[in-house]
Amino acid sequence: MTSTAAIATAQPNNQPVPNRSDSQPSTNGRLLHQGWPGLIEAYRRYLPVTDSTPVVTLHEGNTPLIPVPAVSDRIGKGVKVFVKYDGLNPTGSFKDRGMTMAVTKAKEEGAEAVICASTGNTSAAAAAFAKRGRMKAFVVIPDGYVAMGKLAQALMYGAEVLAIKGNFDRALAMVREISDKYPVKLVNSVNPYRLQGQKTGAFEVVDALGDAPDWLCIPVGNAGNITAYWMGFCEYHQEGRCGKLPRMMGFQAAGSAPMVAGHPIENPETIATAIRIGNPASYDKAIAVREASQGAFNSVTDEEILDAYKILAGEEGVFCEPASAASVAGLLKVKDEVPANAKIVCVLTGNGLKDPQTAIDSSSNANYHQGLEADLETVAKVMGF
Ligand code: F0G
Repeated sequence: MTSTAAIATAQPNNQPVPNRSDSQPSTNGRLLHQGWPGLIEAYRRYLPVTDSTPVVTLHEGNTPLIPVPAVSDRIGKGVKVFVKYDGLNPTGSFKDRGMTMAVTKAKEEGAEAVICASTGNTSAAAAAFAKRGRMKAFVVIPDGYVAMGKLAQALMYGAEVLAIKGNFDRALAMVREISDKYPVKLVNSVNPYRLQGQKTGAFEVVDALGDAPDWLCIPVGNAGNITAYWMGFCEYHQEGRCGKLPRMMGFQAAGSAPMVAGHPIENPETIATAIRIGNPASYDKAIAVREASQGAFNSVTDEEILDAYKILAGEEGVFCEPASAASVAGLLKVKDEVPANAKIVCVLTGNGLKDPQTAIDSSSNANYHQGLEADLETVAKVMGF
């Protein structure tokens, strides 16, 4: 039996497929490329599916956990910081984890169409997975406040894109009503299958680290993901797969920080449009997570978000979108509270390519040499030779 076959036969036993970092080294590259079946197959026994469930997958999940010494060094004290780079999912964000489950269950229930409100990433994931499941997708987005890459995705995946003159909170209220009245399945994170899928992010962190981290830093918008991660850590802990539970540290943009304020924010604003949300649907659940994990909610300014965004890309080669950088910005903001030798995971929820405009706007022109004459002498001179 080849080692590739050994991986494949692990699934019928309902054992999780090993995370990338646990896998045996491969001499021909085949093992790692063939070993990951998507997160429903990998974590089947932790998820509400049966043998007859029609799994809709883009082989999402199994994203890398990357050490980021540029962040660790800014904290010192022997602290080790890793990023869970969920921007490497098939549609470029963690939403794929929830959407494979939500669309799979919608398909199982016989739905022909799905609907969501979105700041962009949910709409991209819903559109892609709906296509994959041969369903129609309707996405309701705040007109003018969705990053270009996300809009491009929803259009390319063939969703009906309904851009409203209102923010995400209004869009969510609308799709809740529409899905009550018409035959379309709601796939926002108020759909419990979304959180079931997203809890696998926590499983992968534990599978890669060998235990839960001391802290889990995560950006918070509608507050579904922090709730899902906590559920994942608790389930693994109950099974003895990790010996401890992390403190859950949620970070919001200062202009959109209802979890910090303790009440909804009527007109949320931030450059991190993914988390421009004033009235989180999972507000109560997220408060319960804070209590149970002895965690905290804090806010970070747009400037702090952009600083962390640049540290990650410019010093570590990890390009995430601004909302994702809120997790690292927040960690750096509260670094004095970090215990010595702690292991910390920051979730990077979305890919930097989602929002090319913010990337270009926040880059310095110092290393961008435009309009050069196409001769060697000119180019070599600019290169410093
Ligand atoms: N990071 C990114 C990149 C997001 O797109 C979102 C949410 C969050 C963090 C916050 O996660 O809502 O579970 O607390 N985006 C949703 C969307 C709202 O429509 O794409 P949360």
